[in-house]
Amino acid sequence: VDWVGDRPVIIDQTLLPHELRMISLETVDEVIDAIQRLAVRGAPALGVAGALGVALACRLGGDEADVRAGAARIRAARPTAVNLAWAVDRVLARLPDGPDAAVAEAVGLLEADAAINRALSERGADWIQARVAGPMAVQTHCNAGALACVEWGTALGVVRSLHLRRGVREVFADETRPLLQGARLTAYELGEMGVPYRIVVDGAGASMVTRRLVDVVIVGADRIAANGDVANKIGTLPLALAAARVGVPFVVAAPESTIDPATPSGDAIRIEERDGAEVLGASAPAGARAYNPAFDVTPADLVTAIVTQDRIIEPARGDRPA
Ligand code: MRU
Repeated sequence: VDWVGDRPVIIDQTLLPHELRMISLETVDEVIDAIQRLAVRGAPALGVAGALGVALACRLGGDEADVRAGAARIRAARPTAVNLAWAVDRVLARLPDGPDAAVAEAVGLLEADAAINRALSERGADWIQARVAGPMAVQTHCNAGALACVEWGTALGVVRSLHLRRGVREVFADETRPLLQGARLTAYELGEMGVPYRIVVDGAGASMVTRRLVDVVIVGADRIAANGDVANKIGTLPLALAAARVGVPFVVAAPESTIDPATPSGDAIRIEERDGAEVLGASAPAGARAYNPAFDVTPADLVTAIVTQDRIIEPARGDRPA
């Protein structure tokens, strides 16, 4: 995600890994469309894209009411990742100081992302290496890499930091049905990093943990409730259940902006339901219907550690993030 010529510029992630195409978003509607079709996705990237979308609305020259109306639509484009609403609100809070102040706030969020991710990744790598002998096998789910942020990544940022310390033997990337963020995006990033990896079907993940084929599970998060419950891509919960069963650390890597003090527990997190066509594809019989929740909630007692740029929280031991 970038800000070039007063426009948000994103990689169209729907085309990866086969094509690396940048697109410039020219209107608020284009920003919303890019968010909803997952051309830009992943909680931190959604936050920055949303913030830059509000900056774009400022630059398109409408009055304050127009900017606020556009911002409200961007904020509602996807419901689960709190970073989107958080970042839009941060930019809106500067609007009374004028459009330049709002644009500067959005660009500030863009520029801060890399350092935040590096900090949480180093902290996470330290915490894991103090507990897990390397070189280790890591299981991850969905894509929480540089593509899901601006740079470096969160869960995959921890993997990147561990890899630079020669601490990773192999990563197992769940393919992440139905949109294959793992098979397409995580595999692409691991290949670029030079980390050995294999893609596994989502249904393999939990039993790989209980068979102790992996030493640690590392995932990102879309929203972390005040009590430590964690919303992340659908299919995360089975990994946490399996990890708790056999005592494998289940680590969540996320910036502080993913912690939502206003959400007391996971029960209050709105889970996005997406179009059933994503699940049915071409293989289901005509007339088949689908249920397509995009996220699940892992209860705090299954979360060994939440790693942010500022701290380590251990919900399974009773720590609360907020
Ligand atoms: O639907 P997506 O692809 O936006 O879902 C993304 C995830 O669930 C990620 O794991 C999460 O946002 C963390 S990204 C650093």
